[in-house]
Amino acid sequence: MRDVTDLDVEGQVVLLRADLNVPLDGTVITDDGRIRATLPTIDALRRRGARVLICAHLGRPKGDDYAARAAGGPSLRPVATRLGELLGQRVAFASDVIGPSAREVAAGLADGGVGLLENVRFAPEETSKDDAVRGRFAAELAGLATRYVGDGFGALHRRHASVYDVPALLPHAAGLLVRAEIDVLRRLTTDPARPYVVVLGGAKISDKLAVVANLLKVADTILIGGGMMFTFLAARGYGVGRSLVEADMIGEVRGVLAEAERMGRRIVLPVDTVAATEFAADAAHDVVGADEIPADRMGLDIGPATAALFAGHLAGAGTVFWNGPMGVFEFPAFAAGTAAIAAAIAAVPGLTVVGGGDSAAAVRRLDFADSAFGHISTGGGASLEYLEGKTLPGIAALEDLA
Ligand code: 3PG
Repeated sequence: MRDVTDLDVEGQVVLLRADLNVPLDGTVITDDGRIRATLPTIDALRRRGARVLICAHLGRPKGDDYAARAAGGPSLRPVATRLGELLGQRVAFASDVIGPSAREVAAGLADGGVGLLENVRFAPEETSKDDAVRGRFAAELAGLATRYVGDGFGALHRRHASVYDVPALLPHAAGLLVRAEIDVLRRLTTDPARPYVVVLGGAKISDKLAVVANLLKVADTILIGGGMMFTFLAARGYGVGRSLVEADMIGEVRGVLAEAERMGRRIVLPVDTVAATEFAADAAHDVVGADEIPADRMGLDIGPATAALFAGHLAGAGTVFWNGPMGVFEFPAFAAGTAAIAAAIAAVPGLTVVGGGDSAAAVRRLDFADSAFGHISTGGGASLEYLEGKTLPGIAALEDLA
């Protein structure tokens, strides 16, 4: 894969596809990690005299057309402001994606200048399943620039116009973040130091069951927490009260548990949970055994015995990959499980990788320094799909395999 340092960029308008999908509270950015992670590539480009035109998505705007999506937001404008602060340089913001404002910003960039296009997902064509629709939009985007750099690691698993189709239309290279992310993930897939422990959490099991099945081939132990734990507990036959359960996945979960047993791998489930009366920051709650969740309660975090059990597995790990919070960490009453696991992982001397926007935001929100972990990946879905052994569309495009 060609690196950004191999691309001639001086005086060129470089369309830089970045992942600036940051969490927002209204228009306030609550974690700017993804913006910071893009800075080395922007710096490398502007130092070499490129005119940097950044294209990125924010959230999953809904609506049939551009106007409806733009009216509903979210806009990348606050990201332009934050990026300008971090760069110490004005970032010109285009109030559309391929319209007059985008063309004006592209044309107005000086060598070393930086601009940001409005949320690329305001254009429904960006995510269209129709190759021709995406292709026409990609041609318009490519028309704004003369070079392309793919550095949006977190979006590389999306077959979207700005990720997958544009690279074919311009001389292109991978950005420094994409290179760094792939280098680390490669270490997890090639001969990881053992035992290799994977910690999976987050809400949706339907997103992650295939990952669990695939990781069984490489990991020694998989620890399951977060909302997805309740479907596992239900598959074991436990009552889980009003906890989040994907009932249609229970059969498949049983299959994965049986497969783990056949392969001699360990899938470790929680032994207790913090059971609350409702999904609210101030809900009444108690720690209960995983097999005694009251019918009118919902589990919102792993309990202390589970945190200790998981920490015991992590203590002797040679390699750790963690994706997904252990509970609803945004509510302080249900953040202890995630904090305990973060602390246990931070103490592991081997390679530790935290993957995913949510997990990265969680460790920062819980006041862990980035340096406490070997690597904090900016990509959740992207890192999981890479570890599953899938070919990511964005990587294929940068390698000219698309
Ligand atoms: C992410 O948040 O994982 C990336 O920015 C990709 O976003 P998406 O899941 O909405 O495609």
